[in-house]
Amino acid sequence: MGHNHIKAVIPAAGLGTRFLPATKAMPKEMLPVVDKPAIQYVAEEASAAGINDILIILGRNKTNISNHFDSVPELESNLSDRGDLERLRRVQAASDLADIHFVRQGEPRGLGHAVLRARGHVGDATFAVLLGDDLIDERDPLLTTMLAENERTGLTVVALMEVDPDHIHMYGAAAVEPTDNPEVVKVTGLVEKPSKEDAPSNYAVIGRYVLTPDVFGILEHTEPGRGGEIQLTDALQELATTAGVHGVIFRGRRYDTGDRVDYIKAIVQLAVDRDDIGPELRPWLQEFAATL
Ligand code: G1P
Repeated sequence: MGHNHIKAVIPAAGLGTRFLPATKAMPKEMLPVVDKPAIQYVAEEASAAGINDILIILGRNKTNISNHFDSVPELESNLSDRGDLERLRRVQAASDLADIHFVRQGEPRGLGHAVLRARGHVGDATFAVLLGDDLIDERDPLLTTMLAENERTGLTVVALMEVDPDHIHMYGAAAVEPTDNPEVVKVTGLVEKPSKEDAPSNYAVIGRYVLTPDVFGILEHTEPGRGGEIQLTDALQELATTAGVHGVIFRGRRYDTGDRVDYIKAIVQLAVDRDDIGPELRPWLQEFAATL
């Protein structure tokens, strides 16, 4: 799998307000999902899609994100002296993933502003953006399909998922038209977090994007939108009505870690599927559920 020329961008400069006080001195991207920080799942997903250059956009309190992707020689030699090779392998997994680069956002002015901060590193090339609140099951490769669609058409590609119309106000929503491929739609419009009544469809944008570099020029003049923030969705709306945007429809397993209840659900879902802890957890969960 060769997407060696493509770089990935992971915005990680959000304030994590919904997880206070856990996120008082620690970024939400470092919250463990089972035994790995959320951001490591996302970096692993990019790496699995063949991407070997990852730029993380940092905000305040984010130095432990960069520490996480460094190797820790004293910890590693300690594990190897003790013969704990399984843990050694897991510790090294984070530092062996890809070339990881960092840039700071400075002030949190929205996702669109964060993506614009990637311009210097990405240059005049197509790139992928992965949002850490959405975890995609490694058995359902979404990013690979999106990269292939971009390669085929040269267009910007977003990931779409059908959601309950009562939940569309939490997402960017897309107006779509079918193409010859049942997995792919043409995106004719995008609205950030519309009310149920104003939503053009129940196709929600989930946090994976393959963007052509013309998005940078658009983001430079994108005015603050919903919530007073510079919205990536608004820039993509402009792209949808000019160069064109395609959507890949995702029907696989997605775990939302954006709020507390979803985060707990994500941990339980991922843990029951694990070979090492699933067998112990599953019968306990059944017993526990029966007491509710
Ligand atoms: C962001 C985007 C939104 C998208 C969502 C996916 O919103 O602005 O368009 O649907 O991610 O998770 P956030 O959840 O960061 O508020």
